[in-house]
Amino acid sequence: MTIKPSSQVLKIEPSPTLVLVSKAKQLAAEGKDVISLSVGEPDWPTLAVAKQAGVNAINEDFTRYTPARGIAPLRQAIVDQANKDFNTNYDTNNVTVATGGKFVIYSLLYSLLEPGDEVLIPEPFWVSYPTIVSICGGVVKPLETKEANGFKLTASELEKSITDKTRLLLLNSPSNPTGNLYTQTELNELAAVIEKHPNLLVLSDDIYNRLSFDFEVAPHLLKSGCNIADQVFLVNGISKSYAMTGWRIGWAIGNNEIMAAMGSFQSQTTSSACSISQKAALAAIQCDPAELTEIKTQLKERRDFAVSKFNSIDMLSCAQPDGAFYIWLDVSKTFGKSYKGSVIHGSSEFAKYLLDDYHVVVVPGKPFNGEGYVRVSYAVNTERMTQALERLQTFLNTLT
Ligand SMILES: Cc1ncc(COP(=O)(O)O)c(C=O)c1O
Repeated sequence: MTIKPSSQVLKIEPSPTLVLVSKAKQLAAEGKDVISLSVGEPDWPTLAVAKQAGVNAINEDFTRYTPARGIAPLRQAIVDQANKDFNTNYDTNNVTVATGGKFVIYSLLYSLLEPGDEVLIPEPFWVSYPTIVSICGGVVKPLETKEANGFKLTASELEKSITDKTRLLLLNSPSNPTGNLYTQTELNELAAVIEKHPNLLVLSDDIYNRLSFDFEVAPHLLKSGCNIADQVFLVNGISKSYAMTGWRIGWAIGNNEIMAAMGSFQSQTTSSACSISQKAALAAIQCDPAELTEIKTQLKERRDFAVSKFNSIDMLSCAQPDGAFYIWLDVSKTFGKSYKGSVIHGSSEFAKYLLDDYHVVVVPGKPFNGEGYVRVSYAVNTERMTQALERLQTFLNTLT
């Protein structure tokens, strides 16, 4: 008897970022000093209040299944936060908690999409979006954006892309991979187009919205003044803002029937998110916002340092990102050059040579539909960033 993976699972390519992480781990296990600028997670610890709440949950035996859509106090805290951030009127029927933002997106799209529904995704996009859309039966429609517009979708580009088959627009601000943020004016213009198309839904992936340097919370479609609240679904979680990637808590907010449907789906798949993590998430959401201000100040210093250094290196350039912890680094000037006799054709080869011989991990832009670039995470300390920059410079010096 031969056992092989199903044809449906074979269609799923493993996340390229996680593939790189495992290659880097393998090199590190061989004793190499690997510097990873690839990780999509903060390097600072989970907030102390959240850790303590998790410990308390264990000690109080809060260790059983919870309702599939999350515990009531957490759902209440989530809608309170959203209502404060966006001046909305959500109640707990409008929220569903799940095991991390990624699964939330899956659960939401599974609950929303009909086979063949088209989903618009501005490029470059987070690598998991197209795969999740496809698993849920949707058809991905990547939308080209312009570097001159900070790789942000404009209202006229959106208007032109909407057809009878379009069901959903996926928007992510601040963005993974560019770190760019839509201004309120840009969002107002997009919102006006969305309002004109009542059948168009929007998934607003706000996972980095508390990691924006000039705002406590990033500008948002829901603050446009347009009447689009019924069309918009919010996705957020604790992974990035509160440095809690391993706790696996995320949530969606929106239409109550869809939220209930997500609950049914989750009751038959994960049963519920981890009880302990939900208590920790509650403490994180209710933390003193000053805790995040300190983190952002440090992160901004790291950003400024990295941006100025990258821009001082011949053959590299980048714009200054406004949020998250990524730099979208233009490496296209290295294409066509030769490294040890092999021509660098694209970002994948650039990243491969840099990892193999200089043990610095960056993520090639190709899987983000952003050839010409690599994504660099600056959620590393300045000492490591300095070493990485030195190695990068040495690598570039060898190109002919
Ligand atoms: C744009 C974006 N959305 C959602 C997520 C999901 O985060 P998590 O599943 O850790 O909550 C990530 C994680 O990398 C992300 O970059």
